[in-house]
Amino acid sequence: MNPLTHVAIIMDGNGRWGLKYKNSRNAGHKAGLITVEKIIKESIKNKIQFLTLYAFSTENWKRPKKEVKFLFSLLENFLKDKIDDLNKQKIKLKIIGKKNFSLNLNKLLIISEKKTSKNKRLQINLALNYGSKAELINAFKELKKNKETINEKNIRKYLQTKNIPDPDILIRTGNTKRLSNFLLWQAAYSEIFFEKKLWPDFNEKNYNKIIKNYKNIKRNFGNI
Ligand code: FPP
Repeated sequence: MNPLTHVAIIMDGNGRWGLKYKNSRNAGHKAGLITVEKIIKESIKNKIQFLTLYAFSTENWKRPKKEVKFLFSLLENFLKDKIDDLNKQKIKLKIIGKKNFSLNLNKLLIISEKKTSKNKRLQINLALNYGSKAELINAFKELKKNKETINEKNIRKYLQTKNIPDPDILIRTGNTKRLSNFLLWQAAYSEIFFEKKLWPDFNEKNYNKIIKNYKNIKRNFGNI
């Protein structure tokens, strides 16, 4: 049985869910947040060490201002309401991506990271304003600036995910089969699961089914 340390998720399908059931994309994001909470709980039950959630990509800025604003207000309220609870549950929050949001949100993110930095039960890596290409370009620039050799070990040192093992499982919900600039380096050997359900409909049962399937896969990492 494969050990399971890190699950990464592209939480796709909020917009379609919202339009279908509530005639509002934002209602889908709100519903998506409930799934986030369910999956955090289930990750703890499964003793998973790292959970990486793709909440906002570098490309998501192209969305209508109203939707972007709503997403950040959802995040802000979530952190204000829940960070103490997450801390009590010994969850560590880490932001991956560039923190260039409003002054208030930047501050809140930094405080939330600081508050939970010593926790060891589950680390949630929240990908915000994250894009793999930007991450890699930054790593190469650092290597050049510091005149370091280009090799795997040195590249990793400058990734946002340094000190985090690569994901064992990468899940994308929403019935779409692409990686959308998410963890392109880190997912080199991840087991990828494309899930038909839209993110707000994804539940503990679906998650556990994926975990069970993953545990029985023969992982070769290029060997035979
Ligand atoms: C992709 O669905 C989802 C997002 C871009 C946002 C993800 C946000 C959440 C799950 C809720 C907020 C989370 C936190 C942690 C505060 P989409 O909008 O691209 O869906 P579509 O493909 O149906 O349009």
